[in-house]
Amino acid sequence: MRLLRIKYVSRFSRDLSTEAIDALVAHAREKNARLGITGILVSTGGLFYQIIEGPNAEVSSLFETINGDARHTDVLALDRTATTSRIFPDWSMRQLTLGPSVQDRLEPLRELLPTILELRMRSDRLTNTLERGILRELSGG
Ligand SMILES: Cc1cc2nc3c(=O)[nH]c(=O)nc-3n(C[C@H](O)[C@H](O)[C@H](O)COP(=O)(O)O)c2cc1C
Repeated sequence: MRLLRIKYVSRFSRDLSTEAIDALVAHAREKNARLGITGILVSTGGLFYQIIEGPNAEVSSLFETINGDARHTDVLALDRTATTSRIFPDWSMRQLTLGPSVQDRLEPLRELLPTILELRMRSDRLTNTLERGILRELSGG
């Protein structure tokens, strides 16, 4: 079966209590089970990291919904892969809250967001310069 897997990172838009995140995940589990979607949601230090996988249309549409959710911001898609197998076949949404006792395991997630934001800004600057050059070339300047 053709499946789609999306990975993203985002930032809490405000303080979210453990209870609020638990409620979000409980609702997500039910809905994901209905849609045939599986995955994980990691929350730590004000950041989310999520992997969702399942049928193409369902995953695309859910990602759009999640993207517009006011509980988080700076939603950055890291990967969008067509696949035929699942990494988390047994979890309609496995929740992982990483605490300070596993500091070193959190480090990659903490570094990820600023690294990507910086890369994106550089890439935007280069794209803008390239486009200005193309327009100048086209207008014979
Ligand atoms: C970080 C984050 C992860 C979420 N993950 C899921 C998810 O895996 N599945 C899901 O149905 N909703 C998820 N949501 C909630 C959706 O944005 C949305 O509120 C929900 O799907 C709406 O459900 P409804 O169609 O029953 O109203 C997530 C929200 C956030 C902020």
